[in-house]
Amino acid sequence: MGKRWLVLLLLCLTAVLGRGAEEIVTVNAPAAEIPAETKYIALTFDDGPRMGTTDRLLDGLKERGASATFFLVGERVAENRQLVERMAAEGHQIGNHTWSHVRLQGAGEATIRQEIRKTQETLEQLVGKGDYWLRPPYGQMDEKERSYVSVPMVQWSVDPRDWEKRDVQKVKKAVLAAAKPNVIILMHDIYPTSVDAALEIVDALEEQGYIFVTVKELLALNGITPQPGVLYRSGKG
Ligand code: NI
Repeated sequence: MGKRWLVLLLLCLTAVLGRGAEEIVTVNAPAAEIPAETKYIALTFDDGPRMGTTDRLLDGLKERGASATFFLVGERVAENRQLVERMAAEGHQIGNHTWSHVRLQGAGEATIRQEIRKTQETLEQLVGKGDYWLRPPYGQMDEKERSYVSVPMVQWSVDPRDWEKRDVQKVKKAVLAAAKPNVIILMHDIYPTSVDAALEIVDALEEQGYIFVTVKELLALNGITPQPGVLYRSGKG
């Protein structure tokens, strides 16, 4: 849990001084407390929550002191409210993955707005007011369509195709081969193999000195102020 405090401290310093976190580490931090090279990385999970897999993932992340970002399907939220409350209580970022997992590209303005708003309202009722960032299902949206979105949007820079592979070692290998600081990894917490792979990935990368943060934290640590309707693929923008 010491790592979480370090992340929070760096975020505070970044906010107060308005500079990049790395600069602050160099200037102000006692060398003994902060690793020479701090590597931040973000795990993101789509299509949940799902009892039987998401709960096991939350247990594992807690044991490892790792934070993640969950893009939830609105219609799954009510029946899994305990899981969503846990995500919020345990410091994970909660995002919007539309109400019914529709392809927003080409869906039309009314559908786009409704799919986002319904999920937003459900999340606000359950875990409070907030800007629940959007991950559009299948990733793509046209420029005009993005203008209907009033929150930042999150894509990814590492996609192990876990939903297709359904194989712990293959998924783990794909992520570890592509892992580097500031990447955003796409996975799905509705498959048991993905949960197992994710926890093995956290173990392997923490061993290499990585710290798992939310997407919001990853951008803040890189001095990025997220803008509504803009798609972010990594901690570098
Ligand atoms: Ni999805």
